Amino acid sequence: MVINPVNKINGEINVPGDKSISHRAIMLGSIAKGTTTIKGFLMGEDCLSTIRCFRDMGIDIDINDNCVIVKGKGLHGLTKPNKELYVGNSGTTFRLMSGILAAQNFDCIITGDDSIKNRPMKRIIDPLRKMGANIESLHNNDKAPIKIIGSKLNGIKYTSSVASAQIKSCILLASLYTNNETQVIEPVLSRNHTEIMLNYFGGNIVTDNTTAISNPVKELNANDIIIPGDISSAAYFMVACLIIPNSEILIKDVGINVTRDGIIRVLKAMGGFIELRNKREINGELVADIYVKSSSLKGTVIDKKLIPTLIDEIPVIAVAACFAEGMTIIKDAAELKVKESNRIETMVTELSKLNANIIGTDDGMIIHSSPNLTGATVESYNDHRVAMSLAICGLASKEQIYINNSDCVNISFPNFYKLLDEISK
Ligand code: S3P
Repeated sequence: MVINPVNKINGEINVPGDKSISHRAIMLGSIAKGTTTIKGFLMGEDCLSTIRCFRDMGIDIDINDNCVIVKGKGLHGLTKPNKELYVGNSGTTFRLMSGILAAQNFDCIITGDDSIKNRPMKRIIDPLRKMGANIESLHNNDKAPIKIIGSKLNGIKYTSSVASAQIKSCILLASLYTNNETQVIEPVLSRNHTEIMLNYFGGNIVTDNTTAISNPVKELNANDIIIPGDISSAAYFMVACLIIPNSEILIKDVGINVTRDGIIRVLKAMGGFIELRNKREINGELVADIYVKSSSLKGTVIDKKLIPTLIDEIPVIAVAACFAEGMTIIKDAAELKVKESNRIETMVTELSKLNANIIGTDDGMIIHSSPNLTGATVESYNDHRVAMSLAICGLASKEQIYINNSDCVNISFPNFYKLLDEISK
């Protein structure tokens, strides 16, 4: 993909549905009793992988335009897949679905692409084993492929050393199949979409700061869902608008859940003009229209408390930091090393090719003001968020940039390049 510098961007846009909420809607819809209609579903490869896996377990899921209809069969309605469950690139599908599979009355193997096979799974294997699960990594390396033999589970109290919604959600989903209470305690609160949606489906989740307590219920009940726009996708347009002079943009209907809004808080702290308009709540999730105007940015420090609220936005925050005056420090973000790519390494390597002043640290990055980005050929490492962040550099750079393996944006944002083109005219 070739990205050319532009003089300004403007317009009113919608970004695709939230990826985290889309996954959860399919999973909970499948194990609830009755029909769940989902509007605004993200038709990206990751969420389509979740649909494929649940169809492989006997769930009838229809797709019409942006509307998905799931005919849930209740907590015990899944059937044994007749092949390996293939999650593609999707860590969320893998880790959340494992919690459900641990309690079924069948066994199965879950696998995925090369990136998935390199991502750590001990973080879910350990708590699931504590709950009584029979789960093992086929190559004995705590990575995919993983075999799960469904078993009787019991509730646990689990203190996680990592703030991860995938770990928390995996345990909460497994807890639906126990007879007693489960507690998950995190070092910092991670995104809480599972807790919100479980309660919306008649689950019994009580939260207190960084603790989520789940008490089993007999069944979940189907409920219709409207999925807000993904703040992680909106982030690319927010940053582009702030760093390209004479730009303004309105991004409609974006989820601004407080466990996800770190990007807004950080960009505001950097001096960005961002207004939240028309705030409302849909299915327990806060939604707003986000108005952004070009601004002069200054560097900032991002650490532990904020990291889980913006973990997926750090690649594009690194881009914003190049255009900010002074220095930006991102720390306590070692989790970046185990995302779809090692995002400390990949962003430092690729931004350096564009003449950015950036160094990687053990748990983050240090970026000095370097607004005169130049052209180059850069790599996406098949990581959608790396590709989209580099595309924003291309718009704001002095010269054209060329992105290799740029199609990976289809993982979370299929019309990304088209939308960039539309707002650049
Ligand atoms: C997600 C949780 C986060 C995030 C991922 C989606 C989720 O991962 O990076 O893109 O939907 O639960 P971790 O739980 O590994 O932090």
